[in-house]
Amino acid sequence: MKILAIGDIFGECGVEHVSMVLRSLKIDEDIDFCIANGENTSGTGMTVSDYDKLYDAGVDAFTMGNHTFGKKDIFKILENETNIVRPANFPDGTPGVGSRVLKCKNKKIGIINIMGRVDISISLDCPFRTIDREIEKIKPLCDFIVVDFHAEATSEKKAMMFYLDSRVSVLYGTHTHVQTADETVTKSGMGYITDLGMTGAEDSVLGVKKEIILKRFINALPQKFEYAYSRAVLCGAVFEIDETTHKCVCVKRICVR
Ligand SMILES: [Fe+2]
Ligand SMILES: [Fe+2]
Repeated sequence: MKILAIGDIFGECGVEHVSMVLRSLKIDEDIDFCIANGENTSGTGMTVSDYDKLYDAGVDAFTMGNHTFGKKDIFKILENETNIVRPANFPDGTPGVGSRVLKCKNKKIGIINIMGRVDISISLDCPFRTIDREIEKIKPLCDFIVVDFHAEATSEKKAMMFYLDSRVSVLYGTHTHVQTADETVTKSGMGYITDLGMTGAEDSVLGVKKEIILKRFINALPQKFEYAYSRAVLCGAVFEIDETTHKCVCVKRICVR
């Protein structure tokens, strides 16, 4: 079974690109299930319209991150849709759930979304202790587990790799919008990459117009963010799961222009 994970889809440019390329990418790579990080689909957050477009384009499940609640539509989406998770370590009482089990072919895939605490300005519960609880909760209900660790620090993500090794089948990072070249399968059969990268405008700084970010760095004055629109790239990775052992056997990085 092949699972395609797509890195943070950014703005109109990213959503349109996914709508254009995902169907053929799923056929070319023989993809069974597609999970995308949707925290930036509408810049900060996700609207119902962007959710619908991406679902129609072939995204089967969504994970989120620090921008989960950037658009108020998300409350409706979290309430109505059964294929979306937000970081599990948001404080108790936050709308939505941090893990779900979704069916694909004859398999039940457990999906967990968790967020790092290094250089992320939201008060969160410990990601390590929280993921222990989430794994305990969904392990009896699924065949294997896929984790999106939405975090800034490469150190925190690598630490999570060792923490989860042999307990989940796939662990990938999101949030930095820059793809790392460290994809690997651990000895115990967990597929891993530190960050999937971004899906959106290449001629940008992490999805935002480059002129705006340059001004911010050069003059240190606040600037209103505007989202870039240029030639786009879809960044992510394909994880191949052995259907008998439920271990990951191969990770392939993807950049589709
Ligand atoms: Fe993020
Ligand atoms: Fe992001």
